[in-house]
Amino acid sequence: MTQPYGGSTAPAQRITAPGLRALKGVRKITSLTAYDAPTAALLDAAGVDMLLVGDSIEMAVYGAADTLGATLDRMVPHARAVAGAARRALVAGDMPYLSYHTTPAEAVRNAARFIVEGGCRAVKLEGGTQRLPMIEAILNAEIPVIGHIGLTPQSVNALGGFKVQGKTRSEADRLVEEAERLTDAGIFALVLECVPSELAERITKAVPVPTIGIGAGPFCDGQILVIHDLIGFHPPGTKNPKFVKRYAEVGSIVADAARAYVRDVVEGRFPSDEAKKRSERLDSSEPVTAPAQVWPQ
Ligand code: KIV
Repeated sequence: MTQPYGGSTAPAQRITAPGLRALKGVRKITSLTAYDAPTAALLDAAGVDMLLVGDSIEMAVYGAADTLGATLDRMVPHARAVAGAARRALVAGDMPYLSYHTTPAEAVRNAARFIVEGGCRAVKLEGGTQRLPMIEAILNAEIPVIGHIGLTPQSVNALGGFKVQGKTRSEADRLVEEAERLTDAGIFALVLECVPSELAERITKAVPVPTIGIGAGPFCDGQILVIHDLIGFHPPGTKNPKFVKRYAEVGSIVADAARAYVRDVVEGRFPSDEAKKRSERLDSSEPVTAPAQVWPQ
């Protein structure tokens, strides 16, 4: 028996936070963002280890220029959709801006929303030593935490733009120290975003937890990308970051399909004569498949 979107109902061995951590040095870890159920089911069935309900949703899905407008009220329902569809992958919620910047108690309550309401099994948050009190409090509440250093997009205004981090010796040394302090606090994985690959390699060797790179070169223990970048699900003509490899052109496929649909409806080819006859023959008591009814009842 198959699941919607091609997955298997065979009980999958769920990847846990300690299980993901244990993959360091064993094999490379794969991670992608996901924001909805069909994407989560497809990526999960394809064998992606970790699905991040990233605050990049604000840019990829809601069309904003940065991630700062993402809120828990907006993200938690997306987390619930992703967690409900993933059978094997570890699903992590990405703490949005200002959900963990004030007090440890508020950070715990907000992280717990991803677990209790969203069905996630871990959270990620950006920043180094300045976030340690929040990270420790969330860990004390039994919630596994992923760190995130290097380019931290929520700092876009403070950094003066999206820029590669850790290019000077002193910045690189600071990032190695941040990585060690976060690891000592108990994070189980560390995202390294937009840092030089030699620095990513240095951090990967220095810490006992897996590093997951994005624009950080090949030496990390794993890789993460925004799913919309990977599959080209953007309006035609928009640019991807240089480090992204595009595996599909979904934006063009959607645009072509929509144009063909518009032509068919306007020119009377859809619904076809056969479909019209079928709907006339339908007995009102006969069950029909509802629009978008692909999930088990
Ligand atoms: O929000 C996000 O998608 C992320 C990844 C790019 C790491 O933080």
